[in-house]
Formats: sequence, structure tokens, C-alpha cells
Amino acid sequence: MWQCTGGNYLFAMQLLLFLAPLRGVTDHIFRAAFERCFGRFDYMLTPFITTVKGRGIAPSHIKDVTGEENDRLRLIPQILGNDPDDFLLLARHLHALGYQSINWNLGCPHPQVTRKKRGCGLLPYPEFIARFLERVIPALPGPLSIKVRLGLDDGDELKRLMPVLNRFPLSNVIIHPRTGRQGYSGSVDLDRFETAADLCRHPVVYNGDIASIDDFRDRRGRFPQISRWMIGRGVARNPFLLESIRNGHNRHVDYIVLRDFHDELFARNGVLLHGPAHLLGRMKEFWAYFSGNFQKSHDVLMSIQRCITIEMYRRKVDEAFARRGAV
Ligand SMILES: Cc1cc2nc3c(=O)[nH]c(=O)nc-3n(C[C@H](O)[C@H](O)[C@H](O)COP(=O)(O)O)c2cc1C
Repeated sequence: MWQCTGGNYLFAMQLLLFLAPLRGVTDHIFRAAFERCFGRFDYMLTPFITTVKGRGIAPSHIKDVTGEENDRLRLIPQILGNDPDDFLLLARHLHALGYQSINWNLGCPHPQVTRKKRGCGLLPYPEFIARFLERVIPALPGPLSIKVRLGLDDGDELKRLMPVLNRFPLSNVIIHPRTGRQGYSGSVDLDRFETAADLCRHPVVYNGDIASIDDFRDRRGRFPQISRWMIGRGVARNPFLLESIRNGHNRHVDYIVLRDFHDELFARNGVLLHGPAHLLGRMKEFWAYFSGNFQKSHDVLMSIQRCITIEMYRRKVDEAFARRGAV
């Protein structure tokens, strides 16, 4: 039994909170800075790593997972691919690095991915998925989970796929209840999520559009049987949401901590990325999320987006935080 301190309800099951993978955002630098400033997720998925043809894995291809700061027990590398041999090559390499568990991406909606029958482009092909799992699962040294959408174009594809998934030992099935065609627009389809979750014999992780503690309470009220929850953009926008959900009450944004987080991302990405243009590009991606914490967020975002030098960027960041009285 797990009790929410300060909350007004008891959870019958222990909650497990997962950080969603956001490519270009939640890399090793983000994950380490996040934990230092805002606390720990129970599990974190890496942004996808694509399979590679051939015999070897170049160190640059897996640089997100090689650093010692990555906790091998709580970080789950995610693989995007559709060739069982290539998948096993990469998965075995990741196991050799100490990772216990692997996730298969069946959710990526980008046309250049789905066209090649990867990501959610595989969801209309249950037999293909069955053959892949028949080959991969017995040869994998550890557990496999999958991350799926409702379908590529048709929101009932996952329902039809579920009997196949139920035949295999999966550690969990993470469901983002949108179709690939939707991308990230429109709303999540909670009715279809419920249907798929009811059909699934594996532990199900809910993922999608939890941006506030009220969203979380709402979903949790509707799906009390679900104990595993994955959050991405909501914590990128407001990193205090993790603590709010754990404690059961809203934690207000502390701009000094947010600034500290920003500064770590800026400093470490400055070392990792070559040249000011790359650093500015990366920081602008973060501000697409952070700016939501500032008054006149659109103006703040625009002022950051217009920066063409590091000096200008530093000035605009100082101004944004100063207006909040944080520096
Ligand atoms: C910029 C961006 C990058 C993403 N990268 C990945 C990825 O590498 N692997 C993956 O499974 N999902 C990826 N996703 C999907 C998220 O993990 C998640 O399923 C989606 O954002 C819905 O959850 P949220 O509303 O909590 O963000 C990405 C989403 C965005 C917006």
C-alpha cells in the first residue's frame, strides 16, 4: 500500500512513473540534470536508437547510453527497427553494457520511419510482429517491453494485434492512445485505450497528455487498475510535475531551481555539441517546453527563437528569468 503524503487519497497499488523518451530532449544530459534538480523517475526510456546493418556498433551510435551516469537498472534503452538480427545485435551490445531490459519502438509516427515498416508503420502487420517476436524473444538475454500507438491509420489495429502480443512474455506494453496519422495532434482516445488495456495480459503503461496533476488525477480516476504511468512533454514543460504527482499536491514552479536546471543543460550541451549554432538549436528545443512556465510565454519563446549568438541568448534568458524575479 502506497500513501500519497498530503494527498487525500490512498493508492491501492504502488505507482510506477516512467519518463517518456523525447528525441532531441531527454538525452543523458537532460536525464542527469533532471534527477539532480527534480527527483527520480522509477524508470526512464531512452530516445530510440536505430538498428544498424553489419557486425559492429559504432560508439558514436550509442553515446547516449555509454556514460556511467546512466543507471543500468532504471534506464531502458529503446530500439527502433524491424530486422530481428540487427535488433539482436544491438540489444546484446546494450546488455553487455549492463542494461537489463530493452524496449521496442512500435510507436514512432514519422512518415520516413513508417514508410519503411518501422515504428507504428508495423502495427497493421500482426503476422510480421509475431515472426519478429518469435525470433527475438528466445534469443534476448533479458526482458522486452514495447511502446505502441493505437494504430498507423486505423485506431483498431492495436486491438487486433493484442492476441499476438499476449502470446509472448513482455514485461509491459506502453500505450500512447493516438494513431500514427494523428502525430501529436487531436486528443487521446481513452475509450480505445481502455479496450486495448482490457485485452492486454501484460502490465500496461498509460502514456499521453498528462500536463498537470489534474490531468493525472482525471486519468487515474478513470483507470484505477493502471499503476504504471509514463510522462514526457508534461515534465519537459513543468519538471515539478513529477514531485506533484508523487506527493499528491501541486508543487509550484521554483524559478531558481528551473534556472539551475537550464544552466546545467546549457553548460553540458556546450561541451557536447560542436559550435554555437548547434548549442543554440538544442537550447531553443528546450525553450519550446520551458517557455510555458513564463508569463507571456509566446513572447518569451519568440525572443529566444530569434537569438543568433550565444551572447544574445544569455541576455534573453537572463531577461526571462529576471521578469520572474528569480535572478
Ligand atoms: C519531440 C518528441 C520526440 C519523441 N521521441 C520519441 C522516441 O524517441 N521514442 C518514443 O517511443 N517516443 C517518442 N516520442 C513520443 C513520446 O515518448 C510520447 O509517447 C508522447 O509525447 C506522448 O506522451 P506525452 O504527452 O506525455 O508527451 C516523442 C515525442 C516528441 C514530442
